[in-house]
Amino acid sequence: MLFRFLKPSDVKSSEITPANIYHNRREFMQDGARIGAGIAAVAALGLNSPEAKAESRVLENITHNAAFSTEEKKTSYRVVSSYNNFYEFGTKKDDPVRNAHSLRPRPWTVKVDGHVDNPGDYDIDDLIRPHALQERVYRMRCVEAWSMVIPWVGIPLVEIIKKLGPTSKAKYIQFETLVDKKQMPGQNRRVIHWPYVEGLRMDEATHPLTMMAVGLYGRELPNQNGAPMRLVVPWKYGFKGIKSIVRISFVEKIPRNSWKRLAPREYGFYANVNPEVDHPRWTQANERRLGEFRRRETLMFNGYAEEVAHMYSGMNLKKNF
Ligand code: MTE
Repeated sequence: MLFRFLKPSDVKSSEITPANIYHNRREFMQDGARIGAGIAAVAALGLNSPEAKAESRVLENITHNAAFSTEEKKTSYRVVSSYNNFYEFGTKKDDPVRNAHSLRPRPWTVKVDGHVDNPGDYDIDDLIRPHALQERVYRMRCVEAWSMVIPWVGIPLVEIIKKLGPTSKAKYIQFETLVDKKQMPGQNRRVIHWPYVEGLRMDEATHPLTMMAVGLYGRELPNQNGAPMRLVVPWKYGFKGIKSIVRISFVEKIPRNSWKRLAPREYGFYANVNPEVDHPRWTQANERRLGEFRRRETLMFNGYAEEVAHMYSGMNLKKNF
């Protein structure tokens, strides 16, 4: 275990650094030149495109939460914003950075429904703005066996859930992405069933590690990373991190998430990073950290076992993959 999480209330104010001090300009600008030869393919995938150089708006008043952050080397902004899965803009890794300029992240309304005391249509700013923005540097691991380290900016999802007030019937929370073929040209192809849907069990959703992100590297989320708000669940494969969310539903039954619906033998609902359960077509025991040459071993729950393993005790993780 590389670091231990504390409860937010345990964090000393001296450990919380304004994010603009924490990041320096050089870190933000790290570019393709630093990327190892092993991922030359990444450099070819959009790092040289003009779109990759566009920088989004700087977010104010962010505090860096050291207790909830890894100190591992961060993946460069260029790679984080140029190597993306966002099928609404195409299925290749560099499609989102080339095509996501058509997404309009403001104004943005989020529908809240289901078993909840305060349903309604919420402006994103009413959901996010009352809460203090935090930066947390998380390891992220894709089911395709690549990984990154990303400084996210956002709020704990539990803060939004508390405001909305789920009833005792709410056992899961389901999220949906925008459907709009004009803004999201990839939706002209039925590669998956639109809208993209994901879900979490209520204990997973309220876990202190789970974030609703609105930014990265101290800036608003680039469109290709899921502007204006997306889920971040660091112990799960990347596909749980649904982007550009327009609907949050509190439901009784397990949500039918997009990837499970498309290929139930290959992708489950839980999607916990688990080196012991291979994808039917490739190993999950190791991964390629973007920017590194050698593959590294994949850690159980992506290294967050100490914090999250208790939620799955007694579950057969080979069956509930
Ligand atoms: N959300 C939507 N709406 N559509 C997608 O295609 N892809 C998922 C997830 N969220 C996806 C999505 C997958 S497979 C991954 S790995 C992550 O987004 C990638 O997030 P990133 O581009 O910010 O790294």
